[in-house]
Amino acid sequence: MSRSERKIDHIRHALGHEREHHNHFDDVTIVHQSLARQDFDKLNINTKVGELSLSSPLFVNAMTGGGGEKTKQINRDLALAARETGIGMAVGSQMSAIKNPEERMTYEVVREMNPDGILFANVGSEATPDQAKEAVKMLDADALQIHINTLQELIMPEGDRDFTSRLKRIDDIHKALDIPVIIKEVGYGMSRETVQTLNEIGIQYIDVGGLGGTNFSKVENLRRDKPFASFNNWGIPTPISVLEASHHFPELHIIGSGGVRHGLDGVKALVLGADAFGMAGNLLRVLINAGREEVIAEIEHIHKEIRMAMMLMNVEEVNEFKAQPYVLHGLTKDWTEQRLR
Ligand SMILES: Cc1cc2nc3c(=O)[nH]c(=O)nc-3n(C[C@H](O)[C@H](O)[C@H](O)COP(=O)(O)O)c2cc1C
Repeated sequence: MSRSERKIDHIRHALGHEREHHNHFDDVTIVHQSLARQDFDKLNINTKVGELSLSSPLFVNAMTGGGGEKTKQINRDLALAARETGIGMAVGSQMSAIKNPEERMTYEVVREMNPDGILFANVGSEATPDQAKEAVKMLDADALQIHINTLQELIMPEGDRDFTSRLKRIDDIHKALDIPVIIKEVGYGMSRETVQTLNEIGIQYIDVGGLGGTNFSKVENLRRDKPFASFNNWGIPTPISVLEASHHFPELHIIGSGGVRHGLDGVKALVLGADAFGMAGNLLRVLINAGREEVIAEIEHIHKEIRMAMMLMNVEEVNEFKAQPYVLHGLTKDWTEQRLR
């Protein structure tokens, strides 16, 4: 199967596969504050994630491109929705366009549609520094995501098996670029140990990409004759992964993503220590099922949810969420008791 056919396959299965019964954002209860003191209409959701100035903590996380006209259309619609609502956007892995220049237009359309937007390029950790630079140039990107997806590769019959040079590649790319480099999981979450290793080579931007939403073990297992179903629920749930990273590395710029269903889940990621949050599968589902205008409506709804949470916590700015009180339940509570000491 070609890379571009695989991209289309991923979209189909990512939309169709069964979600977890429990989303661990439900293990987090934010403490309500009764005495609201702000004017809802004047609340501002601008924020900064390290060097990146964002008009919202929400961004569209990496999904597509590289699958011909269909993926160009999806990227075009997502880019227009991001422009209309002022949010950042990542594209899917650009390795396909680096290997096959015919696919470049499926990514370039994003910058064409949104000339002034905040855009993230995306490559795998197998990329060379020159390939990473090419991906950034293709979009005139503001940051680069390097995705890590070990288990997805292992389940994929045609996936990578040799990761011996991964860390060195990440280090080389990071040293070669002068824009933020975000290391990103794709739904398995990052542990304290992983974040520590990345921190040791100077990485400052982490997208924990935790378990709870789009599940690439299930997606890849659907494409296999003999699935590795035992690994279907492998990974660290997103809220736990945000806590692992933020508790031990508060100076890093942390993004919470994976299973964010709505604005309140996003706010919970911020309360647990993230600086921003990404949404992928849910926005794609809205786009495919209901169209671009509904994606815009969904993003505007999420922005209202963020402002509502600001009022209910007496928070003036997005970066104050991380100082607010919360209570943990279930696995998230057990995990923090055993790991965050
Ligand atoms: C159809 C689809 C394709 C994806 N392709 C990529 C990719 O090329 N690169 C990447 O870093 N992440 C990719 N992802 C992963 C998302 O960026 C995100 O990490 C993951 O879906 C979890 O977030 P969610 O639960 O909000 O979907 C893809 C997700 C979907 C749904």
